[in-house]
Amino acid sequence: MFGATGNVGRHLFVHLRTKGWTVIGTYAQCQTEGLVRFRIEEEDFTQFPVAGSRWDYGIICSAISGIDLCRRDVVRSRAVNVVGTLRLVQWLINAGICPVFLSSDYVFGGDKGGYREADTVDPVTLYGQQKVEVETKLERYHAKTLIVRLSKVVTSDPTDSTLFSEWYRTIRAGKPVVCASDQFFCPTFVEDVVNGLRVLMEMRAEGLYHVCQPKRYDRVTLLEEFCRNTGMRCPAVELRQSAAFGFLDQRGRDTSMSPDKFLKATGFQFTSMGACSRYFMEKVKLCPCA
Ligand SMILES: NC(=O)c1ccc[n+]([C@@H]2O[C@H](COP(=O)([O-])OP(=O)(O)OC[C@H]3O[C@@H](n4cnc5c(N)ncnc54)[C@H](OP(=O)(O)O)[C@@H]3O)[C@@H](O)[C@H]2O)c1
Repeated sequence: MFGATGNVGRHLFVHLRTKGWTVIGTYAQCQTEGLVRFRIEEEDFTQFPVAGSRWDYGIICSAISGIDLCRRDVVRSRAVNVVGTLRLVQWLINAGICPVFLSSDYVFGGDKGGYREADTVDPVTLYGQQKVEVETKLERYHAKTLIVRLSKVVTSDPTDSTLFSEWYRTIRAGKPVVCASDQFFCPTFVEDVVNGLRVLMEMRAEGLYHVCQPKRYDRVTLLEEFCRNTGMRCPAVELRQSAAFGFLDQRGRDTSMSPDKFLKATGFQFTSMGACSRYFMEKVKLCPCA
């Protein structure tokens, strides 16, 4: 598993091990005990310790995933997100290992929302364009791959830097929460993401799937649901058009996706954002540092 320190990767690594899978995980900057150092743009893949073992999947969570980070350093983000990723894919395929590539709802421009797998991609961010470039090459040249598009991933971990933990800290500090008024997405609990990925791999699924919670949210509605379910007082909200955030790369308006194909294939039940918020508060109570 490449990128086992990230917001998705670290949960997936623990999840698969808990389920009895044999997994090797990597880090790039965040040195972590038990993980192997791996920088996708530098690596000599021929040195990888796979000989003698049979590895079924190479799960690629490694990425520069910050949308503005990609735009800020175009050369580096391309080296990691496109060139390095495609080299890794090729190496995995040559070694008889199925690549699992994590893509994003940002492959869509966001004009209509409710996107399905068959819909035409039209990314407006460089990050989204990089995802499309890899997806296209995977689909064109490699039949046996799994591509999973995610929407915004939320966790119940109050100590990380994802949406709920950031809201929690802002509310606790008595500050207003700044929300984009014109963005829609399908926030998804990280435990559902990792479960969904495992289920697809266990089914030996190939091709493209949207793994996201089916309900479409704007940020204020999600914030209200978070407060209602955590028992936190709703904070003052500063609503802004996303154009007013000064992003380097303008976000699409509605990148919500339909997970119908995944639901039909698996019968999966997603966790509601209300339940996810309650799990978050349970963790807060157990975590004195939160
Ligand atoms: N989280 C979301 O909401 C979301 C939504 C849609 C799609 N996705 C996609 O899902 C995947 C995982 O996302 P994430 O949220 O876990 O990302 P993340 O938190 O940014 O983690 C990125 C991972 O990639 C590693 N990495 C960074 N630069 C690297 C390099 N040069 N070589 C090798 N590894 C490198 C990082 O290692 P270090 O930490 O050690 O530097 C980390 O393990 C990404 O492809 C992302 O685009 C995520």
